[in-house]
Amino acid sequence: MDWSALRQEFPITGNYNFQNHAAVAPMSRRAADAMRAYATHCEENAYLRGGFYKQADHVRQLCARLINASPDEVTFVKNTSEGLSMVANGLNWRNGDNVVTTNVEFPANVYPWQALQARGVQVRMALEEDGRIPLERVLDLIDNRTRLVTISSVQYASGFRTDLAALGESCQQKGIFLCVDAIQSLGVLPMDVEAMHIDFLSADAHKWMCGPEGIGVFYVRKDVQGHLRPTTIGWASMKGMMDFSRYQFEFHDDARRYDSGSYNLAGVYALGGCVELLLELGMRDIEQRVLALTDRLVAGLRGKGYRVISSREKGEASGIVAFISDRHDHEQVQRHLEAEYRLVISTRSGRLRASPHCYNTEKEIDQLVDVLPAH
Ligand SMILES: Cc1ncc(COP(=O)(O)O)c(C=O)c1O
Repeated sequence: MDWSALRQEFPITGNYNFQNHAAVAPMSRRAADAMRAYATHCEENAYLRGGFYKQADHVRQLCARLINASPDEVTFVKNTSEGLSMVANGLNWRNGDNVVTTNVEFPANVYPWQALQARGVQVRMALEEDGRIPLERVLDLIDNRTRLVTISSVQYASGFRTDLAALGESCQQKGIFLCVDAIQSLGVLPMDVEAMHIDFLSADAHKWMCGPEGIGVFYVRKDVQGHLRPTTIGWASMKGMMDFSRYQFEFHDDARRYDSGSYNLAGVYALGGCVELLLELGMRDIEQRVLALTDRLVAGLRGKGYRVISSREKGEASGIVAFISDRHDHEQVQRHLEAEYRLVISTRSGRLRASPHCYNTEKEIDQLVDVLPAH
């Protein structure tokens, strides 16, 4: 794989040493081109001869391939939070049920579940320790009133990767739903909802997929669609959606039942562009490339005296490297790198956080190590 050629697909490379894909990523050229083409068509022709919804079905197929689902298990949401909320609000909870999660989820995967407390549902949190969440801690919280486990595929502040295959197997054996906030892995690590026994998944495009904000992938396993009541209902949720005058209350037989009305088509087009590129590159190759780049970064950081929080154990590492300086103010360091070197990273939860993608170069990684203040 010629990774340097890939830089043409990412015009940001001309402007920044950008290693912040865990925050808001640049759009790939493919995504931006697709969005521009849609806008031009609308400007010149309105919807006429647009074939917009045919294209939406094509993008649905691409997204299904990306996560190894069937297209009838996939639809679009406006963000990760919306998908997670639809799961929380659509299940048939009983007083005394509980949901198991962790104490380090991004708030998108906390509040929808906390809102269920008003319906008598308890939220249990497995505790992170030293940047890791041992799987047993999650499993130990499960009892006979647990209905669902909800977890990030990769934790935003530590980069810890959940062993979804093992968790999914346990959940399946116990008859519990598994819901995944996949925004910190989709586009950088392979995802296989089938092999991992995932029931629900939600992820916006604006991080590792290198798409825009405001469009996400929402997956609901076919055989649980009957258990998840649609909660955002509109004309497009129904089978006879184009027959506007016949009020036939009959949901689609597929994940489109979770649609409500018109799509964010600019977003859908862009999503199609970026997912097409990811599939062309291949998720296994992207993962290997990013793990090699982050290994290099971790070695450099340690050599310079920084404390790396992210687990680099096999199966636990991801595209996120969280690290700590005991001597320097993190916010100041981050601002300095951006102002002086156009080098972009973040701070999260008292840590510096770098998150390079496959088009970043070894040279860019080395520059980050070089320009960080010495210990
Ligand atoms: C793990 C995780 N979930 C969700 C989000 C964002 O959610 P949304 O797509 O709803 O804006 C983030 C953003 O930082 C995140 O890190």
